[in-house]
Amino acid sequence: MPDALLAMENVTAGYMGDIDVLRNVSLTVRAGHISGLIGLNGAGKSTLMKTLCGFLHPKSGKVTWAGRDISGKAPHTMIDEGLWYIPQESSLFPYLTVAENLRLPLEGRRKQFGAVIEQRFADTLQRFPVLEEKLAAQAGDLSGGQQKSLEFAKAYMVQPKVCLIDEPSVGLAPRVAGEVFQWIDAFAKADMGILLVDHNVRRVVAMSDHIYVMSLGQITAEGAPADFAGDLHAQVREWLGVNF
Ligand SMILES: Nc1ncnc2c1ncn2[C@@H]1O[C@H](COP(=O)(O)OP(=O)(O)OP(=O)(O)O)[C@@H](O)[C@H]1O
Ligand SMILES: [Mg+2]
Repeated sequence: MPDALLAMENVTAGYMGDIDVLRNVSLTVRAGHISGLIGLNGAGKSTLMKTLCGFLHPKSGKVTWAGRDISGKAPHTMIDEGLWYIPQESSLFPYLTVAENLRLPLEGRRKQFGAVIEQRFADTLQRFPVLEEKLAAQAGDLSGGQQKSLEFAKAYMVQPKVCLIDEPSVGLAPRVAGEVFQWIDAFAKADMGILLVDHNVRRVVAMSDHIYVMSLGQITAEGAPADFAGDLHAQVREWLGVNF
């Protein structure tokens, strides 16, 4: 099994004073693996992602990158290291064009990426052809599915070592959602480590190498897909109290 690239060890964190949203959470993301995280609304999944990339600081426990403690490091420094985040909300600049949105993360890091920007741009358009004819359009004018393509195309431009992906299929037509899951698989096959949160529990369980179940800010179950085989429906229904 590949070593942990990004990990959280016994982390407690929250937004305000003494209200802990994450309680003693441990989780690992490995190169080329998909870690899946499932849980009800409000369980703390997005909070976990924000803590991993440094928007929130752990009150106790630590976040590590290749074994090194990075708790409290600013998010932009972690982008330089190879950590990318596709948030539940849009990360696009709606009044910038598609081309500007695509280039922005690399243009801001010319020292690191200057030599590869044009090649990456061409490769990205080949992989996300729907964007090619929209390059001059404002990102805010794209359809929901096209905006999601642009989010993934931005990640493809950066080619991070780890990508945190929060609710990528929400609000998308089934065909587009299927495409999104294919991109995630392709990212993992290219050796990217993925942390995937999605309400499509079956899909997350089927495509993950390791699955975490979160309830009220704690990891209440975890295992490989095989551990979830057979009575997945009953297990998840019991853990989450939902039908799916
Ligand atoms: N910016 C914030 N300030 C204060 N509390 C917040 C903030 N964001 C989230 N919370 C609270 O933290 C808890 C966990 O929210 P979070 O968004 O992490 O859950 P989630 O599992 O991602 O839910 P969903 O499935 O709806 O996206 C909730 O009680 C929420 O109200
Ligand atoms: Mg969320």
